[in-house]
Amino acid sequence: MKKWYAVIGDPIAQSMSPEMHDAWFRENGINASYIPVHVKVDQLKEAVESLKKLGCSGWNVTVPHKTAIIPFIDKLDETARRMNAVNTVKVLEDGTLYGMNTDGQGFVRSLQEVYDCGETIGNVLVIGAGGAASGISFALEDAGFGPITFTNRTFEKAHRLSSGFSRSSALSFKDAESLLDKFGLIVQTTSVGMNFAQSGIPLDPSGISDGTIVTDIIYNPLETDFLRIARIAGGRTLNGIGMFVHQGALAFELWTGITPDTKKMIQSISTKLGGN
Ligand code: ATR
Repeated sequence: MKKWYAVIGDPIAQSMSPEMHDAWFRENGINASYIPVHVKVDQLKEAVESLKKLGCSGWNVTVPHKTAIIPFIDKLDETARRMNAVNTVKVLEDGTLYGMNTDGQGFVRSLQEVYDCGETIGNVLVIGAGGAASGISFALEDAGFGPITFTNRTFEKAHRLSSGFSRSSALSFKDAESLLDKFGLIVQTTSVGMNFAQSGIPLDPSGISDGTIVTDIIYNPLETDFLRIARIAGGRTLNGIGMFVHQGALAFELWTGITPDTKKMIQSISTKLGGN
């Protein structure tokens, strides 16, 4: 029987996940499809029950439901528990809902695919202190990166987040800007610079050292002002397409046991969004 998968969120129309997973199902000869489902905050419980009742085999969870869905999930993997957020659900044979979070690992895989991240990377600066910052930072720490310094518009949140990491600290935007040359990897996780959300830059990356790896989790636009300034200042930059594709690939692996072609997908999404 044909299986089906979904992504739930609000808004959801802009999601590229259906296109990506459908392409991977086709490429791998899997008889399945993937649909976007618009779920408002007050409909979440009902939506989870309906997806299960209607025979959905698994789904992705996006903004604003990643943490709110936890009470409706039967079993969480270690990463989802630590992040207190779920982005992928698999319905097991006996109907158990298994939740995991592939965002952080997706980021690390995308980074390692493009840049040789040996011991020379040294200090990491994470800009932002929300869900994305925490997921990525846990995955970076697990992969041996660090120490990690956090900087955030609301300093208190950066301070709180840093207390969950070893050898970690927090800086104001102003202090982070003046110390940028001390970092080998900079990870921009705020929504600043995203099309239709907020334009501008969270902080000025001009002061980086030559060759610093500078990443932005945003992929629309392909190059945010933050990345452009960092590139001109000598940074080796990376946008968020790789993270998006790899978090999806990890979900696809959980559902099907098959590793999809991520390189081709990154290329195809870049082309579609106006890159090359
Ligand atoms: P996500 O799950 O995408 O990380 P989030 O948990 O709402 O979303 O976190 C959003 C992050 O973007 C926060 O670090 C937020 O800073 P505050 O903690 O000060 O709110 C940051 N952010 C959002 N808008 C911003 C802006 N205009 N300037 C600087 N940082 C901003």
